Amino acid sequence: MPTSREATVERVRAWLDTSVFRSGGGAGRGREAVIPLLQAAQEEFGYVPREAMDGIARALRLPSAIVQGIATFYAQFRFKAPGRHNVTVCRGTACHVRGSGKLLDDLQGTLRVRPQETSADGMFTLETVACFGSCALAPVISIDGRVHGQLSAQKAKSLIASASREGGARGARKPARGGAAARGRK
Ligand code: FES
Repeated sequence: MPTSREATVERVRAWLDTSVFRSGGGAGRGREAVIPLLQAAQEEFGYVPREAMDGIARALRLPSAIVQGIATFYAQFRFKAPGRHNVTVCRGTACHVRGSGKLLDDLQGTLRVRPQETSADGMFTLETVACFGSCALAPVISIDGRVHGQLSAQKAKSLIASASREGGARGARKPARGGAAARGRK
């Protein structure tokens, strides 16, 4: 039985052989190809594994440090496997005014994680976003890409409880609209 690291290496190897590279992602395209390939890796794995960065560097004939430097510059990329469920709290002004700070505090307590972290059991990743574009519904959070508005702490708790009961497949989620693009390191 392969370890989880071996399984990741195997998946990355298979991914590197896919159409992403065959359709023009390979050598000769240089640095401008790095970001689309990092995005493709994150779409595939839910994060950008170190092995994928190394593979991209090899394919583009760039030093690994260049690819890592580009990846870490942008807030859109994550470098750890996400939890089975994603919980994203809006920290925009409208949501802040309507209590998103307290909501975030409560969720940190419930999930026992800080923003941009995954719970020890791998169930939940907690993130923040600058705005979902649903300000009229403030305060807003999303769970596994589904946006919920006018949230009370109690309602947030019950949504988390029902996500826990549902289980779910790691990596199956898509980010909420406005999530990755609007995410800020704050
Ligand atoms: S400020 Fe929260 S959705 Fe816009």
